[in-house]
Amino acid sequence: MNICVVGAGYVGLVTGSCLADIGHRVICIDNDEGKIRLLNAGQMPIYEPYLEDLVQQNRKRGSLSFSTDLSRGAKDSEVIFICVGTPPLENGEADLSFVEKVIREVGATADSHKLVVEKSTVPVQTGEYINRTLKIYSREEKGHFDVASNPEFLREGSAVLDFFHPDRIVIGVDNRRTEDVLRQIYLPILEGTFRCPVHSSCLPATRPLFFVTDLKSAELIKHASNSFLATKISFINAIGEICERVGADVQKVAEGMGLDPRIGKEFLKAGLGFGGFCFPKDLQAFVCIGEKYGYDFALLKEVEKINKSRIDVAMEKLKKHLWVLRGKTIAFLGLAFKPQTDDIRFAPAMELIRRLREEGCHIRAFDPQAMKKASSEIPEIFYGRDPYEVAEGAEALVLATEWPEFLDLDWDKMRRVMARPFILDGRNFLPRSRVTALGFEYVGMGR
Ligand SMILES: NC(=O)c1ccc[n+]([C@@H]2O[C@H](COP(=O)([O-])OP(=O)(O)OC[C@H]3O[C@@H](n4cnc5c(N)ncnc54)[C@H](O)[C@@H]3O)[C@@H](O)[C@H]2O)c1
Repeated sequence: MNICVVGAGYVGLVTGSCLADIGHRVICIDNDEGKIRLLNAGQMPIYEPYLEDLVQQNRKRGSLSFSTDLSRGAKDSEVIFICVGTPPLENGEADLSFVEKVIREVGATADSHKLVVEKSTVPVQTGEYINRTLKIYSREEKGHFDVASNPEFLREGSAVLDFFHPDRIVIGVDNRRTEDVLRQIYLPILEGTFRCPVHSSCLPATRPLFFVTDLKSAELIKHASNSFLATKISFINAIGEICERVGADVQKVAEGMGLDPRIGKEFLKAGLGFGGFCFPKDLQAFVCIGEKYGYDFALLKEVEKINKSRIDVAMEKLKKHLWVLRGKTIAFLGLAFKPQTDDIRFAPAMELIRRLREEGCHIRAFDPQAMKKASSEIPEIFYGRDPYEVAEGAEALVLATEWPEFLDLDWDKMRRVMARPFILDGRNFLPRSRVTALGFEYVGMGR
């Protein structure tokens, strides 16, 4: 099928290259000329495991191309996936201006039937606005549209894996024809007949569920899912506060809770809290949706409050142990909001660094992938070549992102180069007994 993907960011670039890989002819559109120039020159604007190979191979095969020309992309395609950003406005609502701009242009340029699919995370009822907008701006006699919701559940860091091995594909449609087109698009995934770029040989034991519902319910599934996961994280962070006060260990509590299959162990990780381009903004947007329809979603407001307080908790711990912060050198391991990505949007590490700089601290930081993006946002700090370089002369080390390679460092060497061997493990990630045996002072979160 000929598909146009609008927005070549974390979602659009993954969706576009994976759809091309399973047999479609895809054009990815972005209005960021620099990004498109980079992609057309064979370079990557983001880091995501396995993505670069997929992009290069499919470009070479001619099944994937990049352009800034939306009208061309829209004209040449039967299906248009909207993957542009929906960042938060000042009041927490989702900013839908990028979506609207694309829809107006699609409406104005379409000269045959188009299926428009929302993949961006949008408030419930956006599908109705999209439908209306397409009708208003289209050249009536030519453009006919169907609109569907196909919320994206990929996790940055394993986005390619998640495309090929999803647990479910959710679609919201208002007619059978649209359902059939979307099923056809995802058929290789649903039937397990794709060449997996992640595993050398993989026969998926279970096929993903193709979950079909109405448009509004599909839109709500995305916001409800993200809010639920964020609630789990804030819940365990609240438990961690109790643990610290009574001398218990949140890791053990989480482990014991997670053994109950009704609870599950995922997302019960106490620490610096959640960040990224999804949970913080989607939570705020969902609270706003509640308000708009007369429901006070107090539960989610509390989830957000607990999450924001995690940075205060980390600041307090550093103040308590370092006494005076002004003039102290603090090393950071990890800047990205989670491992295996270079995404620093709403990353707790970045917020903590800003707060420490306000207190007069000198920051030295290392991240395996996110330093380029971090240095364009906070250029004033020192970015080291490796963890040993950033640890040099530091009076505290904050582990802010749990990159697996940090476990394999020569921690004895780290201790020797630091001015004071103090670790604030913001992710409860390092083996406490091992590092304390080496002579580190170790402070975790909720234990
Ligand atoms: N990042 C994730 O893990 C993730 C997961 C699920 C859902 N989502 C949702 O998907 C959407 C996109 O997220 P993202 O992380 O890919 O954002 P992103 O910022 O990485 O990508 C968005 C892209 O859209 C482009 N864009 C904006 N306006 C445009 C226009 N008028 N025409 C063409 N291109 C335009 C931007 O230049 C940018 O490259 C958001 O709604 C987000 O909430 C993100």
